[in-house]
Amino acid sequence: MSVILIRQAKPKDAEAINDIYNLYVRESSCTFDEDPITLEERMEWLAEHGPRYPAIVAEVDGEVVGWAALSAFHKRSAGRFTVQDSVYVRGDMRARGIGKALLSELIDRARDLGYHSMMAGIAHDQEESLAFHRGMEFVEVGRLKEVGRKFGRWLDVVYMQLIL
Ligand SMILES: CC(C)(COP(=O)(O)OP(=O)(O)OC[C@H]1O[C@@H](n2cnc3c(N)ncnc32)[C@H](O)[C@@H]1OP(=O)(O)O)[C@@H](O)C(=O)NCCC(=O)NCCS
Repeated sequence: MSVILIRQAKPKDAEAINDIYNLYVRESSCTFDEDPITLEERMEWLAEHGPRYPAIVAEVDGEVVGWAALSAFHKRSAGRFTVQDSVYVRGDMRARGIGKALLSELIDRARDLGYHSMMAGIAHDQEESLAFHRGMEFVEVGRLKEVGRKFGRWLDVVYMQLIL
């Protein structure tokens, strides 16, 4: 496959980020969002994902085919050393190492930024995402029962953690 270029997300990427994400909003329980994110919301999100909470994209042949970001896990100050990841790869580009490249970069950046731990909150039916995080040495640390409901089904959230 062509080279995967990982770089900081920019405002011009907002539409591509949304195109990738909103498909999962409509079709998958991997996100608890049920309404597509608007361009305006994505621009605000990008503005919030500055140096402390980076957003990055993966480009292949000049096209954005995946994105990832760090967000605060706890909003209150004593929780500031823990972050949560988001990683989304365009459907037709999955299983080609793009997710791994994005998450590896996020982990490196989280370490450089002095964070202590990284969390992933994953719907229990998302086998692929659970395997993906396990492969990156995240371990399951907790499970919240039936805290989500999408497509008429109750969803548990499995928390996985990587101590950085
Ligand atoms: C989960 C996701 C980010 C993985 O990205 P990807 O580019 O498809 O994955 P990669 O090709 O980098 O694979 C990395 C590892 O993930 C696991 N994995 C990937 N696809 C898998 C599949 N279909 N079944 C089981 N494990 C899988 C494997 O452990 C793989 O490592 P290996 O290739 O050494 O076996 C991607 O599939 C995706 O965007 N899914 C929908 C959104 C989502 O669930 N995001 C995570 C929520 S934060």
